[in-house]
Amino acid sequence: ETKPVLIIGAGVSGLALGNFLLREGIGCVVFERRSREYVQHRQRAGVIDTRAARAFRKRGLEDRVGGGAPAEPNLGFRVDGQSRPLRLSVEEHREGRFCPQQVLVQNLISVFEQDGGDLRFDTEVTVEDHERPRVRLGDGSIIEGDFIAGCDGNHGASRNALPEERITLHTHEYGYAWLVILAEVPAHQQTLMAIHRRGFAAQFGRGPRASRFYLQCPLDDTTEDWPDERIWSELETRFGEPLATKGAIVEKQLLPLRGEMISPMSHGKLHLLGDAAHIVPPMSAKGMNLALHDADVFADALVRHYKNDDPSLLDAYSDARLRDVWNYQAFATWLTDTVHDAGDATYRGEFRHRVARADFERLYTSGTANRLLSEFMAGLN
Ligand code: APR
Repeated sequence: ETKPVLIIGAGVSGLALGNFLLREGIGCVVFERRSREYVQHRQRAGVIDTRAARAFRKRGLEDRVGGGAPAEPNLGFRVDGQSRPLRLSVEEHREGRFCPQQVLVQNLISVFEQDGGDLRFDTEVTVEDHERPRVRLGDGSIIEGDFIAGCDGNHGASRNALPEERITLHTHEYGYAWLVILAEVPAHQQTLMAIHRRGFAAQFGRGPRASRFYLQCPLDDTTEDWPDERIWSELETRFGEPLATKGAIVEKQLLPLRGEMISPMSHGKLHLLGDAAHIVPPMSAKGMNLALHDADVFADALVRHYKNDDPSLLDAYSDARLRDVWNYQAFATWLTDTVHDAGDATYRGEFRHRVARADFERLYTSGTANRLLSEFMAGLN
């Protein structure tokens, strides 16, 4: 069996790419090793930034896929227990959409299938060959295509199919971890982030009745160090206010913060998109958005190839995306270290603490500094 574009992975990058190609009449198939239920119910981040919202709009998908409340103009910061909402000055930021990712994923799945897309769940594939591209399915059958889109995330098959000597991996460890908590607590605003001497804390809505909370902690902490009552009391201390409700804690896990880059992102007819190529910490709110930006650029490159017989955008894909993602890695390290060092100085010392406080306060006092942050948050830098 042959299909022009073989997409491995039905996460945000694979599903967005599939929809983008379908709109252009370019044949594709999406292989997903997990079940439909599993994929549709993964709880994950969800502000679609302006650049990603425009990618949906330019293909007539905004209403069917990129719905949700407009991104709030203020970031809900609390500093040393005091409320310090930070207004983002760039109006374009408002084109962003607050869309819990499981809603986005469910929309991408239903639109893809409504439009006749070929989406195969419970189908793990391996890359048989990335020059004459073919993938092998679990039953041993082989599917051939013109291209393979490696949208299979951080531990996917497509990265492992690349010869070691052909890829360069750049990694960065931030030196601290987040205790990530999923709890049945409704969020009353899109973002709540606390800068505090005891460490960073945050609450992000995950659908109408749940929230994900984050607590900065040392790398060697374990979930055993964090019984529920300690979690609630630490959150209330860092937020500087009591939590209205303390629902059941459904999930706890330790997440060391790190960044990762794979280069190049293209190998023969295999191209990497999303987490398969790069990792940014959740603080940047860019994991999902960089995946969407990759899908937008790669889809345009395939359209140029199939419609104009012009491979130039395909040839430029890896360099163009790496340049852009390194810019967002710079944004992610700056923002993440700033909000953490401006709080707990035990990780990187008092000097870094005061520098980070100055960096943070400048966002309120300098329109230029605020504009740069706003551009990054909108995905427009
Ligand atoms: N065969 C088929 N499917 C596979 C294989 C394989 N060999 N390996 C992985 N997958 C699937 C996974 O089951 C997963 O559903 O690929 C998908 C990869 O999806 P994500 O990990 O979500 O990666 P991506 O689409 O790049 O999303 C990037 O969006 O989910 C947010 O913030 C999150 O940073 C992440 C971003």
